[in-house]
Amino acid sequence: MHIQSYTHSLVVAILAASTTIQLCAGAVVNPVEPPGIRGINFEKNLERNAKRLDLKNKKNLGDMAAGIPREKEQKYFQEPGVAAAGHYDGRYYIGFVTDKERQRTLTHLIRAWLQWTQSQGIETWLAHGTLLGWWWNNHILPWDTDLDVQMSEATLKHLAENFNMTTWSYDFEEDNFRRDYLLDINPYWVSRVRGTSANLIDGRWIDKSTGLFIDITGLSETHVVTSPGVLSCKNLHRYKTKEIYPLREVEFEEFKAYVPNSYEKALIKEYRSRAFTQTEFSKHDWQPALGLWVQKTRFQPEKLYNFRNGKMMKVKVEDPRGLEAVPPPTFWQLLWRLFYW
Ligand SMILES: *[C@@H]1O[C@H](CO)[C@@H](O)[C@H](O)[C@H]1NC(C)=O
Repeated sequence: MHIQSYTHSLVVAILAASTTIQLCAGAVVNPVEPPGIRGINFEKNLERNAKRLDLKNKKNLGDMAAGIPREKEQKYFQEPGVAAAGHYDGRYYIGFVTDKERQRTLTHLIRAWLQWTQSQGIETWLAHGTLLGWWWNNHILPWDTDLDVQMSEATLKHLAENFNMTTWSYDFEEDNFRRDYLLDINPYWVSRVRGTSANLIDGRWIDKSTGLFIDITGLSETHVVTSPGVLSCKNLHRYKTKEIYPLREVEFEEFKAYVPNSYEKALIKEYRSRAFTQTEFSKHDWQPALGLWVQKTRFQPEKLYNFRNGKMMKVKVEDPRGLEAVPPPTFWQLLWRLFYW
């Protein structure tokens, strides 16, 4: 059985590798590129998007000072009142999207974010699971349901004062993909402590077609006297200033991005070193030959069993239930067998 499953994965790896080579044939030669990248005209895409830039600036500076409710903190960002829909913005949720659509939407969410922030000179870097995805292969982890970025408190203030409720129209020619993204800054951003924990997220970059979003959090030096040089988000993830700065320029989802200076330290603090060694997670296997996380079920070997009643059933070779997974015959099947025999 071992040899069999080994042969199987070998065949799969060879197949996948040859597909990759075919895909890469027309791409720009660049040794750091992960497999499967097509040529992307960054300049052209940016130009198109800049032309379509739509600053529907609904902000009202008066709101900023006056509108901060000091009494009881209400949760600002709302999710749909549906179980397991916590990664959708309540205003734009129209139902769950498929895995494929989610991955496509998230990829463009982050690309649009990187492109917009860079075009505006806004400093931001990858955080949490998104940073971990970058560490593995410059891509979003395929099972991720949302994305995380961080920024300084000063940048957050800049966004709150100048870009709240603005929409960025995005057009990605290579995929024929058009979306509108809304930047929404939580008015409770001015409070830099955890508080009731209803408003840990300072902002969202929202895909208006699906409600999927990027969580934006600011880092502040919350204890200038007792812990100088320590930056903290409202969910109490702490970093030394020199762990973040100077930022490192990297590539993420085929776009230019930034990560904290000591990204490994940040990741180990959050996920333990296991995050770098565990090659099996959330029904995915890390395939070093491909440099990809591959969904397990897709390649899981199956065996066809023929039953005497003429039925066939696929049973996973690794399925510990084995033949016990065979459903009991129905009443009519039993009757038929009785008749037959
Ligand atoms: C952003 O705009 C929304 C809608 O007008 C408003 O509710 C919110 O308080 C604003 N956020 C900030 C930081 O001003």
